[in-house]
Amino acid sequence: MSDSFFDADEKACIDAYLADGYVAFDLAPTLLGGLRRRLFEAARALISLPDDVTEPVFFDQIHQWVPVPELNRVRLGLIQALNRDPSVRPLLYRMAKQPLAWIVGNELAMQRSLNLSIQFPGDASSLLPLHADVWSGNSPYEVVFWLPLVDCYATKSMYVLPKPQTDAVLAEFERYAALSAEAFFRAIEKDLVWMDVPMGRGLIFWHGLIHGNRINGEADTRWSMNTRFKGLLSPYGTKELGESFLPITLRPATRFGYAYREPSVRGGGDS
Ligand SMILES: [Fe+2]
Repeated sequence: MSDSFFDADEKACIDAYLADGYVAFDLAPTLLGGLRRRLFEAARALISLPDDVTEPVFFDQIHQWVPVPELNRVRLGLIQALNRDPSVRPLLYRMAKQPLAWIVGNELAMQRSLNLSIQFPGDASSLLPLHADVWSGNSPYEVVFWLPLVDCYATKSMYVLPKPQTDAVLAEFERYAALSAEAFFRAIEKDLVWMDVPMGRGLIFWHGLIHGNRINGEADTRWSMNTRFKGLLSPYGTKELGESFLPITLRPATRFGYAYREPSVRGGGDS
């Protein structure tokens, strides 16, 4: 008999996350297809695309029809479309439900507003220099569900510094904090892992890991979404419940617990 409370596949996922600070997993293809279709339709309203552009060509080659100065307008329009559609947040949750339950729990709060990254080949305007989200006040109890909408690899992806190496950098942080962002990157470059996440896979990572991206040096555009999840009752950082996070899987025991008040005894006593 196992001496663990975890099932074998659950334990494998937990052990991988504990070792590296991230774990990749398969997505249900119909869910991802639905999301891509919504974005493609929303894009048709924002961009004048030739009629014969297919969905895969659109995602890979959007930079052909949108000049860089227009990119943010298009990106914000697509984000608005995602946020207006009430089916998208449940759909994202369903994609990552199993590994989220294993890594975070089954009573969750989810980021309220959705976002989208679009990184054209060679475009330096949407870069994220190396950082950890916890440095800017995010709760260390959060995880990020990183969802590629296209094949992500090499510089078309993001990099992370795995947990043991992030811990080593933080242990000597004074040394690194004095460096410029570029010198910091060079100093840890050999230990960085570029996330090789093909379309159809997702990634959950701890945003306490050092991570970032570089100029996309591949031929196709990168599309990805990142959405924060945390345990509903775990400590919050600057992103608070109600403001940045909403409860999504509140359990009945917690409902009763929240609502419970000590009974008061009115006019009691024996005088
Ligand atoms: Fe980040």
